[in-house]
Amino acid sequence: MEKPTYHVLVCNSFRVGGDPQGVCNRKDAVDLLQMLESEIADRGIDALVSSTGCLKQCERGPIVVIYPAGWWYFGVTRQKMDVILDALEQGEPVPELLAG
Ligand code: FES
Repeated sequence: MEKPTYHVLVCNSFRVGGDPQGVCNRKDAVDLLQMLESEIADRGIDALVSSTGCLKQCERGPIVVIYPAGWWYFGVTRQKMDVILDALEQGEPVPELLAG
């Protein structure tokens, strides 16, 4: 398998036992994950999407991180995700949404 251009991490609060329990999951991060999988395919973005355990930023969730650039986004909603994906198609971050 070729390495993807981007690796998009979406916190879904998975705990050691595999249960999704936590702030990001309660704030509909599963919905973001489904949206990402669908939009990345539709837009033809070369990215792998992974769901993660807690990224230790719970109060700011849902959290989305894009590597290798290391772009962290806090409080991501479907609307913000759409803007983030528009920029990602151009290989750019969304400065006003980046975690500071
Ligand atoms: S549950 Fe997502 S950062 Fe902690």
